[in-house]
Amino acid sequence: MVNSQARPMIIDTDGGVDDALAIIMALNCEQIELKSVTVLAGNIDVHQAANNVLRVIDIVQPNQRPLVAKGCEKPLVRPPFNAAGIHGSDGLGELHQFKNADGSPCYPQLTIEPSSEDAIDVLVKAAQEYGSDLTIVALGPLTNIATALQRDRTTLQKVGRIVIMGGAVKVPGNISAAAEFNFFVDPDAAQMVMESGIPLTLVGLDVAMKAPLPRKDVENYAQKHPSAVAQFIGDCTGIYMAFYRDNEGFHGCYLHDPLAVGVAIDPSLVSTESVYMVVETEGKFTSGMSLADLRDRRDEATYPPNVEACLDVDTDRFLKLFYELI
Ligand code: BDR
Ligand code: CA
Repeated sequence: MVNSQARPMIIDTDGGVDDALAIIMALNCEQIELKSVTVLAGNIDVHQAANNVLRVIDIVQPNQRPLVAKGCEKPLVRPPFNAAGIHGSDGLGELHQFKNADGSPCYPQLTIEPSSEDAIDVLVKAAQEYGSDLTIVALGPLTNIATALQRDRTTLQKVGRIVIMGGAVKVPGNISAAAEFNFFVDPDAAQMVMESGIPLTLVGLDVAMKAPLPRKDVENYAQKHPSAVAQFIGDCTGIYMAFYRDNEGFHGCYLHDPLAVGVAIDPSLVSTESVYMVVETEGKFTSGMSLADLRDRRDEATYPPNVEACLDVDTDRFLKLFYELI
């Protein structure tokens, strides 16, 4: 049953492991109606990313299936840069390795395909149709959204808010010392979105790294609540969590993208500061760095705040919401 009060949402995603968990949350949330999922290259190429989104929808089996549309195949200016080494060569933890007792694949090839509509058209049309009621949650590089701005800025500016998983305000980057992955992949797009005039909420590493999901909790959850979704979550997070075990010293992962969906559903999960932010598009060592003006004597008349940056999160309440929605 679809809630008639549900708020329209679009997820823009690069189809990785934490993207998948975020999409599961959105599909299961009665307060929102996930109209479309627009897809782009980032963690993995755009075709595989779209396939991964369809896989998630196929497993969750929602009453209403969102449209899935492919968009940008590469960043605006930079060469493509993926995270297959972290999310697996398929972007979803090498699902082909999982077999049933009879040797058949647990995740056989899908028979469904993405829409033939272009993701950029989908974004512009949704902005026109839903205007300020629409929230876009951006879980990958911002190339699709920047391209939609280039195509029809006035219409895109009707959107109520974009909740962005990206950037790092007071903490270091993750893909480089300075930059978070999504901004690093397409800094030009990120800067274009910063200048868009659309209300922006930035769910960056400051808060994402305060919401870790330990491997043992995923395993306990699957034991207590056996289901196709729980099985899928355990399977797709295996390689991703092993990366954190080997590189960051804890066996689990951060819930970057799920937290962005959580904040879009319930903004009271985080505390924010209004800041003027730019994204470095050229720096030799700092490309993709999000730079917020945090000076006491900042000149707000010349540089008005353009972003609500999340700086703290109620991790317990967020994890409660996460478990309710998976
Ligand atoms: C972001 O990078 C991607 O690999 C994740 O999916 C997330 O969107 C975190 O920096
Ligand atoms: Ca992502």
